[in-house]
Amino acid sequence: MDYRAISAQGPALSQVNADALVVVLTPDLAHTGDAALDRLIDDAVKAQDFALKAGKTLYVHRPAGVKASRLVLSAAANAEPKAFKAAVAKGLAAVKDLGAVHTAVAAAQGLALTTAHAQALALAVADATYVFRHTKPSAPKAGALKKMSLLCAAAEQTAVKQGLAQGEALAHGVTLARELGNLPGNYCTPSHLAHEARQLAKTHKHIKVEVLERPALEKLKMGSFLSVTNGSAQPPKFIVLRYQGAAASHAPLVLVGKGITFDTGGISLKPGAGMDEMKYDMGGAASVLGTFRTIAELQPKVNLVGLIPTCENMPSGTATKPGDVVTSMSGQTIEVLNTDAEGRLILCDALTYAERFKPAAVVDIATLTGACVIALGHQHSGLFSADDELAQALLGAGQESLDTAWRMPLDEEYGESLKSNFADLGNVGGREGGAITAAVFLSKFTQAYRWAHLDIAGSAWKSGAAKGGTGRPVGLLTQFILNQASAGAAAIQPLPAKPAKNVATKKVASKQAGTKAVTRPAAKKVAAKSARRPAAGRA
Ligand code: BES
Ligand code: MN
Ligand code: ZN
Repeated sequence: MDYRAISAQGPALSQVNADALVVVLTPDLAHTGDAALDRLIDDAVKAQDFALKAGKTLYVHRPAGVKASRLVLSAAANAEPKAFKAAVAKGLAAVKDLGAVHTAVAAAQGLALTTAHAQALALAVADATYVFRHTKPSAPKAGALKKMSLLCAAAEQTAVKQGLAQGEALAHGVTLARELGNLPGNYCTPSHLAHEARQLAKTHKHIKVEVLERPALEKLKMGSFLSVTNGSAQPPKFIVLRYQGAAASHAPLVLVGKGITFDTGGISLKPGAGMDEMKYDMGGAASVLGTFRTIAELQPKVNLVGLIPTCENMPSGTATKPGDVVTSMSGQTIEVLNTDAEGRLILCDALTYAERFKPAAVVDIATLTGACVIALGHQHSGLFSADDELAQALLGAGQESLDTAWRMPLDEEYGESLKSNFADLGNVGGREGGAITAAVFLSKFTQAYRWAHLDIAGSAWKSGAAKGGTGRPVGLLTQFILNQASAGAAAIQPLPAKPAKNVATKKVASKQAGTKAVTRPAAKKVAAKSARRPAAGRA
């Protein structure tokens, strides 16, 4: 798609050279300043053919006095980017299957266009024109639309241009995430995700990729991750992506994406109804790959690491059984009470692996719990973090990119239910507060750095007739990274380096004495870290 910012306002609108013109109006801003268009609008409203109510559109073929042969009036609730995006989407729906090659969008007189409006437009276009064809070649091809223009004031042109460019790059990342999500489990295997990561590195010189295979994972002692892959014939992969846009000394942001390419539940088998949707259980991984694509195109001055533990969760004679105890890379042992709580089992080892990058912050993204869908529905992703500054940065990025998250609690007390008689941790709490206990489980592996967790179980895909990946939260993550890149000294800084051991540290470490864990140096390390900085419930 070719995106243009064209300076045209008022009387120039009816003379714009395009095949279709979409005019976005609001209840308060119902005119364009173009006589022919305004006459048409007033007439349509008077005749009750068009109402200035969000969601309403009117298509006019060969409108009198207008050069474009197709005109759509589209009503937005207000002038905000979110409402503008919805109105553009509605307008496009009316013309996208027609013959128009070049569609221009105009905003009502007085509707000030910003970077955010332009970015929203590019995303609406990508959304309207996306078709999944990979395993359905008979699906109708994307329409004739090749060129989109946003008509703006001369003074708005720079901002609009920037928004369109950013929106286009974002649309590429979102589309990649959607496509990978939609790809069935027999196509989108762990090996396929590794292939996609390598493709990214091939096409973008700022991206490097490394794929760790089973022997390397065994050597790293990722016993928790590997336990999930036991029942599967597909080899597990651990994908490490790196984007370097700043000096090597600059602490990176680390994104960790859950990459379960199919979640049957394992021996704790899921019910059959709707199980096909568990192909989307690699939505976190897809969002990391999508974000890397967008960031590689925009090239902000920031360093980024992406970690994707990926495997299938299958039942078989070799699968992990309920009650099995596994040893994570951190040294903490885990009683696998339910093999369907596998996401946290692969993420915890990736979170331990993340320590080596001495990150400024780590954000994991996972379709982790059905409980999060019950709590928040499909509107917001769930955000969990004990770090207020990081949480605010992510929430703000969500608002800016119209890819929102809602903060959830993370008190240590929720972890009570994770106690086990046979291991350091059980992998499930009760049904109550299931999204929170899952987050508290992960927090036990994140003591070394600033960390936030995004549960995208409700936001990564849509069910029903419109079943399909959403590409979320590529928008939120990208905005967060761009904001961090431009924040300079105000950017999130890594936790201070570990202080010399003090009495308190020793005390907690010795509390572990007599348990199995103390024999492993890594376990000692975790205990020492929690003494230095309690994870949850901290302001
Ligand atoms: N991938 C699922 C979470 C999920 C379920 C996302 C439904 C979207 C819709 C995850 O691996 C899972 O199965 N979680 C369990 C955890 C439970 C066993 C504690 C769940 O949510 O039921
Ligand atoms: Mn599961
Ligand atoms: Zn899962």
